[in-house]
Order: sequence, then structure tokens, then C-alpha cells
Amino acid sequence: MSKPVILTGLRANNNLTIGNYFGGMLPIIDMAKNRSADYQVNMFIPDLHSITTPVDYSAINAQILLTAKHFVAAGLPLDNPDIHLYRQSYISAHSELTWILDCMTGIGEMNRMTQFKDKSGTIGDERVSVGLFNYPVLMAADILLYGSEYVPVGDDQTQHLEFTRDIGERMNKNFGDIFVIPKAVKEQHKFFGKEQGLRIKDLQDPSKKMSKSDESGKGVIFLSDTPEAAARKVMSAVTDEKAYVRFDRENQPGISNLLEILALLQSRDIKEVVAEFEGQTLYGDFKAIVAEEVRRFLIDFQKKLHAVDDTVVMKKLEASEKALAVTANATLLRTQQAVGLRPGK
Ligand code: TRP
Repeated sequence: MSKPVILTGLRANNNLTIGNYFGGMLPIIDMAKNRSADYQVNMFIPDLHSITTPVDYSAINAQILLTAKHFVAAGLPLDNPDIHLYRQSYISAHSELTWILDCMTGIGEMNRMTQFKDKSGTIGDERVSVGLFNYPVLMAADILLYGSEYVPVGDDQTQHLEFTRDIGERMNKNFGDIFVIPKAVKEQHKFFGKEQGLRIKDLQDPSKKMSKSDESGKGVIFLSDTPEAAARKVMSAVTDEKAYVRFDRENQPGISNLLEILALLQSRDIKEVVAEFEGQTLYGDFKAIVAEEVRRFLIDFQKKLHAVDDTVVMKKLEASEKALAVTANATLLRTQQAVGLRPGK
């Protein structure tokens, strides 16, 4: 029996944040490290998704490799045949299955996708591509090609996972058993634990998520920030007038966010960190501790990133792509046969 598949994609972007690191990368890398005896882990770079919105096309190739290196710097083991690291566009079945699924997907279904509505609203009609509209279908293909059961999803991706289940189930119903259906959102949360809800907030506006697309970048700690600049961002984080450190997301979101960041950086339980600092009245002193921790984290991470060997990463990418193309092509052929594009068995 083959192992159940855990799968996730992280878009190539030079500007990954500590939110991406702790919320997106680390949980699945921990799984890869600790549970590869029981699961196959597929981590990939959805480069075809990267071009759904206008990007700097001349930079994208380098960004793809850099993103792969980030996974390795964050601890992804490369010497395990059940852990895969690959580029979406290098396995052509992703595109081919997307087309077939496209033809089985209603316009109305896609029109309901809130991420499309949000994103298209911000980039202006004339720049909204058909690819962006089609984004969830490609994502469904990413997941279904490998029979993935577990996909960690942040809040912004739950609708896409639900669509994946819908289209997969519909195909199975209409054409016979083709796909393994990923678990429902609730079960995903149970499987991956609380990290899923993780939301580091913007330092300047703690009511919103720390996001790599934030324009000013003042409230965002990027993994590429100089350690000193990042420390300064922490020192100028927006807090409150209460002059009392307390974990209260509602009334003291800024301070609570800093407590959360500190807990993540020190790999400690938030309760323990709160117990240590609760009641402190000098925010400056508390911020200085968080700032120093951020500074040290970045020095360490950037050192690791620098040490990652390009050739080793390229070798892993190529080996995974070769191995997974076999799986993906088998699913694609099954689908082509089911819909009559290839002779049946
Ligand atoms: N849409 C995801 C994001 O923006 C990236 C992604 C693409 C993905 N395909 C996927 C995630 C398949 C999980 C499974 O973060």
C-alpha cells in the first residue's frame, strides 16, 4: 500500500515573511521530518500560479530556485525518497488535467470564489487574466493528481479546497472512481493542529494579517530584511496606551501579536511566554526582547539560506519531478480514459 499523501504549494516570491515561515513552511517541514515513515510529503512551487497576476517575468526563474532553497534552509530533508520537492510547471500533467477539469467546471462555480473577487478587485479589470479566474481549477489538479489526502489550508484557501473536493467527487460520480478525495477542511485542521489558524499580524496595523503584498512593508518582517531593520520594525510596532503586557487579542492586539511572535521564535508555548511577561509596564523593554529575538532568528536563517547548495537543490527538484511525473501521468491517463480522450482499458 502506498502512503497517504500530504501536499502543499508555496508560491515563489522573493518576499516571504516570518508569517509564511511559521504558518506555511514550518508545520509541513515538521511533518516531513517526523512523519515520513507514515506519509509521503509533496512540497511544490506552483510556478504556473505565479503568473496568474502580472509579475516581473525576468525575475521569476531565480525566485523559483530561491523559494526551493528557503524550504531547505528551514529544515526540509532532501535525502528521503518519500519527501518530494518539485516545480509545478515541470510536470506537464498539471496543465493537462486542469484543462479537462476546466471543461467540467461551471462559470458560476468560479464566480463564487472570494479570492478571485478580492484579487481582481485590486488589480483593475483590464489586467485580470483568465488564468487568475482559473486559479482554483489548477489548484484542484495539483491536489488530485497525487491522490493527496492532507493539504494544510489557511483561511484564504479553504474555499479552493472545498472546490477541489466538489470537482473530484463530481468526476468520480460521472466517470467512475478516478480520484482520491482530500479530507474536508475540518479534518485538515484536526490533522495539522492549531498552527493552521496561525496568523501573525501586521506590526503597524495589528487588526490585519502580516502579508507579503503589503505595500509599505513597515509592519512586515521579511525573511530577506536585514536583521537590524527587522529589529527596528519591532521597536516601532504599534501597541496601546494600557502600559500592561497581557495576551488579549481583542483589546491589546499589538502586544498580543508580539507575544505570539516571541513564542514562535523561541518555540515555546504561548501560555508560558505570557506567564513570563504579563504585567510588565514598560513596553520598550518588552519590545527590545522581541526585537533581539527577531534579529537573532534572521541572522541564523540567512546564514542557513546562504549555505544551501544550488546544485543539491536542483538535483532534488529534478529527481522529484521525474518520480512524480510517473504518478501524475497515471492519474492523467485514467482521467483521459474516463472522459473518452484515450481508449479505455
Ligand atoms: N494557492 C496556494 C497559496 O496561495 C498555493 C497553492 C497552489 C497550493 N496549489 C496548491 C496550496 C495546492 C495547496 C495545494 O498559498
